[in-house]
Amino acid sequence: MVAISTLVSVALSLPLVMVFSGAVKPSGCDLSKAQIANLPSALTQPTTSLSFVAIAIGTQNYTCSSAGTYTNIGAVAELFDISCLYNTSSFGVIPDLAIGVWKAAPPSLTPQQIISKLQPLSSPVVLGEHYYVPNPLTGQGLNPEWNFSSHGRFKGNADAYVVAAKANNIAAPTGSQDIDWVSLKSLAGKLAQQVYRTDTQLGQPPASCTPGSPDITIRYASKYWLFGSSV
Ligand SMILES: *[C@@H]1O[C@H](CO)[C@@H](O)[C@H](O)[C@H]1NC(C)=O
Ligand SMILES: *[C@@H]1O[C@H](CO)[C@@H](O)[C@H](O)[C@H]1NC(C)=O
Ligand SMILES: *[C@@H]1O[C@H](CO)[C@@H](O)[C@H](O)[C@H]1NC(C)=O
Repeated sequence: MVAISTLVSVALSLPLVMVFSGAVKPSGCDLSKAQIANLPSALTQPTTSLSFVAIAIGTQNYTCSSAGTYTNIGAVAELFDISCLYNTSSFGVIPDLAIGVWKAAPPSLTPQQIISKLQPLSSPVVLGEHYYVPNPLTGQGLNPEWNFSSHGRFKGNADAYVVAAKANNIAAPTGSQDIDWVSLKSLAGKLAQQVYRTDTQLGQPPASCTPGSPDITIRYASKYWLFGSSV
């Protein structure tokens, strides 16, 4: 007997699956001449060529501060290759499709479970994972990492990661429900020299919280663009 939640999530995944399978090639199309359309000028501009573009589905994590507001303490997301959708009509709408799937999924469903529904497409469409690690230079704090070394052509490649630090951020042009657009520069790893988060969908915490309340995770989707890879 298949759980209802599984059926619901499979049904909800279908638009995403259709978009993915509609791509001419499943993965790995050449992006060296591609650019981020309408990149806000407040973000640092890329200085190297584009290597990867992904749609991410995941959660932003927050903890409640003593001031009664939420502070970001990291994120976890799965990245899917959308390089072959660049220049197609699906490219612009894919963040809406992704958040639609994610928002409508049962609350108990984790990113990992929804991602496993996309497993028939997992290789090579799954590029990798995004999560936070201590700053590799200082050992302190938390910095975002993108790691592709578990999938596809980078499987087992220990250099296929980047840990980065924020260069600039701006409020999402789409509204206060969506997390900031961000430019980041590499601290370690060969996967990219610059990383951008754009086309964000949701991910913002509630405006206030009761100090002492548990940490929360908020679902989001976004595009990630990785420039200047040398893997
Ligand atoms: C996108 O299409 C334009 C116009 O046809 C073309 O010049 C460009 O090379 C294409 N870019 C990619 C990355 O396919
Ligand atoms: C964020 O939350 C996820 C659960 O969605 C968890 O797996 C992950 O370890 C958390 N990461 C951080 C840095 O808090
Ligand atoms: C990247 O992911 C692989 C597989 O999970 C892991 O073994 C490796 O330590 C990660 N690399 C970094 C720098 O985090």
